[in-house]
Amino acid sequence: MADLVGKSIVVTGGASGIGLATVAQLLRLKARVAVGDLGPSPSAGLTELVAQTTDQDLFFYKQVDVSNRPSVDEFMRAVLQRFGMVDGLINNAGICPNEGEMATDEVFDAIMAVNLKGVWNVGTEAIRIMAKQESRGVIVNTASDAALKGIKGLAAYTASKHGVLGLTRVWCKEWTPKGIRVNAVAPGVTDTPMVAKIASGHTSGEETTKQWLQNIPMGRFGQPAEIGSVICFLLSKESSFMSGQVLRIGGGEGE
Ligand code: NAI
Repeated sequence: MADLVGKSIVVTGGASGIGLATVAQLLRLKARVAVGDLGPSPSAGLTELVAQTTDQDLFFYKQVDVSNRPSVDEFMRAVLQRFGMVDGLINNAGICPNEGEMATDEVFDAIMAVNLKGVWNVGTEAIRIMAKQESRGVIVNTASDAALKGIKGLAAYTASKHGVLGLTRVWCKEWTPKGIRVNAVAPGVTDTPMVAKIASGHTSGEETTKQWLQNIPMGRFGQPAEIGSVICFLLSKESSFMSGQVLRIGGGEGE
């Protein structure tokens, strides 16, 4: 099991879905967890989770908009003030609005701002901090299946996630020689509020869902915890010889 006891881990987009499930695992592993998300206070899911945690000091929450550099700087300063260091970053915040037949420029820009620039903003800030620490650190970027292939109807989202893989690979070349590991996960369809929203936004949510399922050899969607466990593995020493990699977690190789 991943040994993350006492490690200071930052999770963006930790209020919901994959981020929330990863926070739950990190708290179980006794890591110190700093969550940043859009809400002014922790979501109901986070509040419930923290209430069940024996050591409440392990948890820190602050509002952040990852697409906004000053907001990210303020968030990371607050994390440092609280935990003194950043051992790990899970660059997970993301959006996937309905792009329709062709995304408008506004939708394209909004997706890029969060999914790609957001990863850049938090990642570069974390690298700056980690590079000054003797123990350095580990970054896990949440990419997507969409980083590995073209997904019809999701051009902007797909491009943004290809960009996340690009950053993962370049940061590995630039920073792994200095002791910072950088990897990515590429989840397939995972049962989160994001996916529920996408399915309901299609003319027939049920039809879309059926089509997605047909493409997954395991015949089911992923559970957020099944992504979280791989993220914890990539954060831990168990993956100490891995960097610049992307792990696909999608119930088997579909179309
Ligand atoms: P979700 O919608 O349940 O959670 C995303 C979280 O990110 C939310 O709490 C949201 O408030 C936060 N967020 C959005 N914009 C933000 C911003 N500007 N600043 C800070 N926080 C922000 O979605 P889910 O499914 O858990 O997604 C997590 C990550 O996994 C995303 O990067 C997504 O693209 C990726 N992913 C999800 C898949 C899925 O099937 N659910 C598949 C592949 C990748």
